[in-house]
Amino acid sequence: MLKVNDINVYYGNIQALKGISLEVNAGEIVTLIGANGAGKSTLLKTISGLLKPKQGEILYEGQSIAGKPAQHIVKRGISQVPEGRRVFANMFVEENLQLGAYLRKDKEGIKNDAQRVYELFPRLHERKKQLAGTLSGGEQQMLAMGRALMANPKLLLLDEPSMGLAPLLVKQIFNIIEEIKKTGTTILLVEQNANLALSIADRAYVVETGRIVLSGEADELNASEEIKKAYLGGH
Ligand SMILES: Nc1ncnc2c1ncn2[C@@H]1O[C@H](COP(=O)(O)OP(=O)(O)OP(=O)(O)O)[C@@H](O)[C@H]1O
Ligand SMILES: [Mg+2]
Repeated sequence: MLKVNDINVYYGNIQALKGISLEVNAGEIVTLIGANGAGKSTLLKTISGLLKPKQGEILYEGQSIAGKPAQHIVKRGISQVPEGRRVFANMFVEENLQLGAYLRKDKEGIKNDAQRVYELFPRLHERKKQLAGTLSGGEQQMLAMGRALMANPKLLLLDEPSMGLAPLLVKQIFNIIEEIKKTGTTILLVEQNANLALSIADRAYVVETGRIVLSGEADELNASEEIKKAYLGGH
């Protein structure tokens, strides 16, 4: 579904991604793990068209999307849940969700997807007339995910959904990610919570200072001593 081929991405003179390559197959959850500043968000932003690679190629369903405008990429079926959620604080929950569908014209489909999002997140349904800025952190994460799903993506990019959430809520969010996978949506999940991410992923890549340093089946990486030492706190 997605093939990232040897991309270099810069912020001015600083090179954030140094020849990154990875693949995501339809139906998979692929996780990208790595420490602060490794380049995880930069990679997601480059896939979703917010940043342009200086070198390399990004193929989505066989076609090049590298450097294409973000809205073109959303229309093609990729949507991103940004790090830190970025909900529209002064708008209602239901308005935030509708904004996720702003490039769509199929009214019926939009209605169905709103219903699907409310089924996935009953909490959002209860709070649809609440201002997004007054939601708890976990609820804002749900809203950011719901908003991305309103674009009816084939590929969902999730940037650190567990950030700042209590363990119980993190568990809930991860259960929902698995539910989303079951409905046929492919997922590229960025996480610092490597343990949890590997527990739901099919495959994983480890990023370190702009490079992929390890990759493989999630089960294998989860069992690897090297990974445990470096990323799972040595347990
Ligand atoms: N807008 C920017 N301008 C300049 N440098 C940036 C910018 N955004 C990110 N960087 C740098 O690029 C590198 C990769 O950052 P990125 O945000 O992709 O890391 P990350 O893996 O998502 O980290 P975290 O886990 O903390 O979110 C870092 O060294 C960061 O300082
Ligand atoms: Mg990040």
